[in-house]
Amino acid sequence: MEKTFVCIKPDGVQRGFIGEIIKRFENRGLLLGAAKFLQVDHAFAEKHYAEHVGKPFYNGLVNYITSGPVFAMVWVGEDAVKLVRQTVGATKPAEAAPGTIRHDFAAKMDRNLIHASDSPETAEREIALWFAPDEIVAWHNSNFLWSFGKNS
Ligand code: CMP
Repeated sequence: MEKTFVCIKPDGVQRGFIGEIIKRFENRGLLLGAAKFLQVDHAFAEKHYAEHVGKPFYNGLVNYITSGPVFAMVWVGEDAVKLVRQTVGATKPAEAAPGTIRHDFAAKMDRNLIHASDSPETAEREIALWFAPDEIVAWHNSNFLWSFGKNS
């Protein structure tokens, strides 16, 4: 099963959306693989956002993600990267589809509430950065096949 990385950013934590966001991924049928509540420092944020070094918004992005505690998670399921990105919505909240997290709770890109890996390769890199292997729980809930079963 595919794993993806999700981080509720400081605005999502401060505005009290942790529970609501977890519920949306649970509703989708995805399985929680790991979670932690932490404050990251600049050095760590620079590693996470390494691909954006040199872009005009880079310094602001690092300041934003380090401005308060974040809630980091791993979610698991078939096509988890795509499912999670769809539930999260477009990077710019003004372009996010109704019913997505960024549409329903965010108003602008500088406060877009949540980060989600954009490909399986990125997910692998981000999960390895944020979680030790023994922090990821391998389990199935009793509903898992009702979401990810295959007809035969
Ligand atoms: P995120 O999913 O965390 O991935 C990278 C982040 O950079 C993105 O969400 C936005 O918060 C931010 N970002 C991406 N593009 C821009 C941009 N053009 N201007 C400002 N911020 C951006």
